[in-house]
Amino acid sequence: MPYYSDELIEEVRSANDIVDVISSYVHLQKKGNDYFGLCPFHNERTPSFSVSQKKQMYYCFGCGAGGNVVTFLMQYENDTFHEALEALAQRAGIELPKQELSGRARQEADKRAKIMEINKISAKYFYAQLRMEQGKKGLDYFAGRGLSPETLKKFGLGYANKFSDDLYQYLRKQGYEDEILKDSGVISVDERRGGHDKFWNRVMFPIMDANQRVIGFGGRVLGDGEPKYLNSPETMVFDKSRNLYGLNFARMTRNPYILLCEGYMDVIALHQAGFDNAVASLGTSFTAGHAALLKRYTKEVYCTFDSDNAGIKAALRAIPMLKEAGITTKIVNMKPYKDPDELIKAEGAKGYQERIDQAQNSFLFEIEVLEQEYDQKDPESKTAFYNAIAHRILEFPEELERNNYIEAVADKYQIGFENLKKLVIHQGTLEGMVKRPTPLKSGVQDKKQQEDGMRKSQKLMLTWLIEEPELFETIEAYLTPEDFTEELFRQIAEIVFEQHRQGALNPPGIIDMFSDKEQQKEVAGLFHASLKEVTTPAEKEKAFWETIIRLKENSINYRSKHLQPSDLAGLQTLVADKRRMQELYKRKP
Ligand code: CTP
Ligand code: MN
Repeated sequence: MPYYSDELIEEVRSANDIVDVISSYVHLQKKGNDYFGLCPFHNERTPSFSVSQKKQMYYCFGCGAGGNVVTFLMQYENDTFHEALEALAQRAGIELPKQELSGRARQEADKRAKIMEINKISAKYFYAQLRMEQGKKGLDYFAGRGLSPETLKKFGLGYANKFSDDLYQYLRKQGYEDEILKDSGVISVDERRGGHDKFWNRVMFPIMDANQRVIGFGGRVLGDGEPKYLNSPETMVFDKSRNLYGLNFARMTRNPYILLCEGYMDVIALHQAGFDNAVASLGTSFTAGHAALLKRYTKEVYCTFDSDNAGIKAALRAIPMLKEAGITTKIVNMKPYKDPDELIKAEGAKGYQERIDQAQNSFLFEIEVLEQEYDQKDPESKTAFYNAIAHRILEFPEELERNNYIEAVADKYQIGFENLKKLVIHQGTLEGMVKRPTPLKSGVQDKKQQEDGMRKSQKLMLTWLIEEPELFETIEAYLTPEDFTEELFRQIAEIVFEQHRQGALNPPGIIDMFSDKEQQKEVAGLFHASLKEVTTPAEKEKAFWETIIRLKENSINYRSKHLQPSDLAGLQTLVADKRRMQELYKRKP
């Protein structure tokens, strides 16, 4: 990792106006002081993506994406912090000192770049082979599967011919040594036999990352044969759990959801039929990493897996991972066809669209699968099934949501809403006694709401500190960064207090102090927290003092609970703080 000084980072950032930079990616229109456009990080039809020239920040009111010019490139181009900084330095004509790179880091970066080059050259090679005499078999194969010339081009499909070392020879001629070729994953090097191509006599599917860079390959046999697909091994640039086939296109879709398939051919067939939002995992099963990746582009995923048992299993695995990532899932039924590719061949895009329209809620799908495990003709087994349903419904923490599911399931299995509801409550108390605290207890909910409220207050105070610097003196008289009990907010408060004391508040700079993307998003959100609820100056004054009081009370509470008996200094501040509360209560208008 190269390390650049704060000053240098600041220089690069201020040399790149955020409106200029983002304008080359997003069409922006000026409204009032800010610029607005369609958010590139989620699908929307009306602009909620705002860019502030004054603050040099962007923020999306729809999905919460936000940050400064560096984080924009990180988010948009999937860059690391340093890649984004380098791109911006280049754009502004600033020379970044090379020697700041440690020897090893530079070597790694060079190696990554070389592997990317080798992948690109290989993809071009396979692409050219497909169009040559010896590639006719491959071209015929693709044609037989109904792929148009445009589709072949769009996906960069190719052919690895039957010679087992021609790509190796070609790459050697271009100056690549055995060692780097071995690390690229397209060549295997054997001590005795020398270098060999990993792929031969296969049609080739280059795998691209979200930014159209070739990071690996899948190769399919022509017709029957084992293994059906051969994939590049993971390399320095190919992480199978952080990439999805087709995402380079699907990320641009205007559809509000993503279609998740099992196979490369499904993705290609869907895109060819006009479904520009299809992706698939890369010869591995779906992982939590994939779910997190998808969350960056969508809130809803339609699983359009094979109709066989393996497909059902894959869906049952994916649903909880997607849910965990905050994505709602629907299941598309392909029966009686094997997969999306076959369905589209048989029924066309219209037929497939109908399947999407009829897609099933993932919970009801899970219940349907569960149903198979019970003999519905046997009363005892049927009761067990209903109890199992009740158990699953308890997983929804919100009563409203539970009721909606009780209604849907009761309808479907003709159990009767009240009957099922009773069963759920009964099951809830039962399980509450045995193990987990039942989510039916409302106290849990209240506590959570309190915590959310406290987070909100701390956030609001930070927003004031940043947006209205003239308030700092008053705030400082009563609050310290330690009064922010949320760890992230405390860290931000420390930075903001320090910047104020130095008389150099620098909002975009705060973001750079956090390397985690989620944290950066949270920080960026602070600069745009809506103060709409507060309108008149009198109301604002009142809200201001109430927030100070709430923060201080919470902090006193928190410290009383966590104070070590031996911490005398802590006790003294606590007592002093408690005494000063009276003063605060009086100041509140
Ligand atoms: N797969 C793999 N290795 C195999 C078989 C499958 O990596 N030996 C992966 C591939 O990514 C493939 C996916 O699993 O795309 C789904 O497999 P399958 O449904 O068999 O492949 P399809 O893409 O449907 O290919 P085809 O239609 O050509 O059979
Ligand atoms: Mn298939």
